Amino acid sequence: MEENTIKKKVMLSGIQPSGDLHLGNYLGAIKNWGVRSEEFDCYYFMADLHTITVRQEPSQLRRRTIEQLAQYIACGLDPEKNTLFIQSHVPEHTQLAWVLECYTMFGELSRMTQFKDKSSKHKDNINCGLFAYPSLMAADILLYQPDYVPVGEDQKQHVEITRNIAERFNGIYGDVFKIPEPYIPKAGARIYGLTTPTDKMSKSVPDGCVFLMDDPDVIARKFKRAVTDSDTENCVRYDKENKPGVANLMNIYSAVTGKTFEEIEKEFEGKGYGVFKPCVGEAVIEALRPIREETNRILADKEYLESVYKDGAERAHRTAFKTLRKVYKKVGFVQP
Ligand code: TRP
Repeated sequence: MEENTIKKKVMLSGIQPSGDLHLGNYLGAIKNWGVRSEEFDCYYFMADLHTITVRQEPSQLRRRTIEQLAQYIACGLDPEKNTLFIQSHVPEHTQLAWVLECYTMFGELSRMTQFKDKSSKHKDNINCGLFAYPSLMAADILLYQPDYVPVGEDQKQHVEITRNIAERFNGIYGDVFKIPEPYIPKAGARIYGLTTPTDKMSKSVPDGCVFLMDDPDVIARKFKRAVTDSDTENCVRYDKENKPGVANLMNIYSAVTGKTFEEIEKEFEGKGYGVFKPCVGEAVIEALRPIREETNRILADKEYLESVYKDGAERAHRTAFKTLRKVYKKVGFVQP
């Protein structure tokens, strides 16, 4: 009885279906999301609206969005316990985004690292959506009044600006939005590229990126070719500064096996990288096998997937609608 009356804390996050999900998304984010679904009221979505800030191939976007939903479920996000939805199915996101754009300053958007980055990469398409992206992300978040937003280090600035926008709005209209906290996973879960171990794992460097749907032989090959370090030591030892390649592999191995760095150092004492790399590959293959198989099983059941995203959108809408209604009222729009 007690328990039912205590409101659970709310957690929310999303990933853009602009590329296939990879090991970094899984170990750094989705795997940890599932663990929290008892303790928190969780919303996880496919941020499809965000993807069109850079050009997408429509059929690929559609495929990836559905595949990402199947992968969320296969990674352990139970759609009964988590609200899983597709962003474009909940119109309140774009509706609130417009309002928030009017409370976001040109100057602050100009300073966003991701905007500077992406606009220098896509010089022929520096569109308004790319610029206003943080206001849409703020809407994604603030609609659900979450306590925590689990994001990677690279998205921290976007959560910061969300807080600033929310505080600015609350400062004028009273307490409309809860001020969310970024929730950065422990350093252990940060995964770097296998061929570029100082940059985070990314789909744009496919040789160093292990996709969740990669075949076992592809994964094995990627790990065999993983960059270790140019030191002559050939010794499995955790030293992030001087041996980033080995540290990253140890991190991955630790995340999929649950072994500590000490245990790993012991296990490979005197064995060198030639033994270590394929072992990490094997461990990852075994960790991803059930996820890939389950994803394929779920993908074959179109009706089930449809029921999940319809139900998710319905639930998300019920929460989002309440916030939007309040915002519309506060700014002075006539109630329909
Ligand atoms: N911008 C995030 C990314 O590129 C994705 C995202 C969109 C998001 N809306 C969000 C993440 C809301 C957390 C909360 O990774």
